[in-house]
Amino acid sequence: MKFFIDTANLDQIKEAQDLGVLDGVTTNPSLMAKEGITGRENILEHYKKICDIVTGDVSAEVIATDYEGMIKEGEELAKLHEQIIVKIPMIKDGIKAIKYFSDKGIKTNCTLVFSVGQALLAAKAGATYVSPFIGRLDDISTDGLNLIAEIRMVYDNYAFETEILAASVRHTMHVIDCAKIGADVMTGPLSSIEGLLKHPLTDIGLEKFLADYKKGN
Ligand code: G3P
Repeated sequence: MKFFIDTANLDQIKEAQDLGVLDGVTTNPSLMAKEGITGRENILEHYKKICDIVTGDVSAEVIATDYEGMIKEGEELAKLHEQIIVKIPMIKDGIKAIKYFSDKGIKTNCTLVFSVGQALLAAKAGATYVSPFIGRLDDISTDGLNLIAEIRMVYDNYAFETEILAASVRHTMHVIDCAKIGADVMTGPLSSIEGLLKHPLTDIGLEKFLADYKKGN
């Protein structure tokens, strides 16, 4: 299972990278705005900075919503760095753009996916990753994890190579449940990764080991 961090915050990306388990980064226009990164040039520069920190895939989202615009922007993003994955929204022109990039060998991440049908279409178009937003489904009383399970079943039925990237992961249990279901990738905040470390018995056990060592030394 790949671990991506879902942020544009360079300090958090560095922290996750230093842990040694990070496989990539996902961003979106909202995450960029949250870090105060605005303006095309600044955004492109920021993507390069992220690529310099991590060794894996870095999703960079197009802003255009028409086919020609997505192709132009996506090609510009792909040229920025070899680690860039062009992130494209799940809309009709987006599917056409994914197919175009797939035929050219440019990797894509189909974002804003909320149904099995959308995931099927993204795979047919040749998306490298498909991003179902599980947290946002949970927010509206719909089972986000169930969507991951259904996409897993459909992709396995036909051996689609598109990787299921569980997105809008909000906490550590999402990560664990996605791993049980067989999501290929999860992207979440640093806290969702660091939460995997925690167990009170580990802390109690370590405290006791160190106390016993001190007694004999
Ligand atoms: O990866 C998608 C993500 O950025 C959306 O997360 O928490 O805004 O639903 P959230």
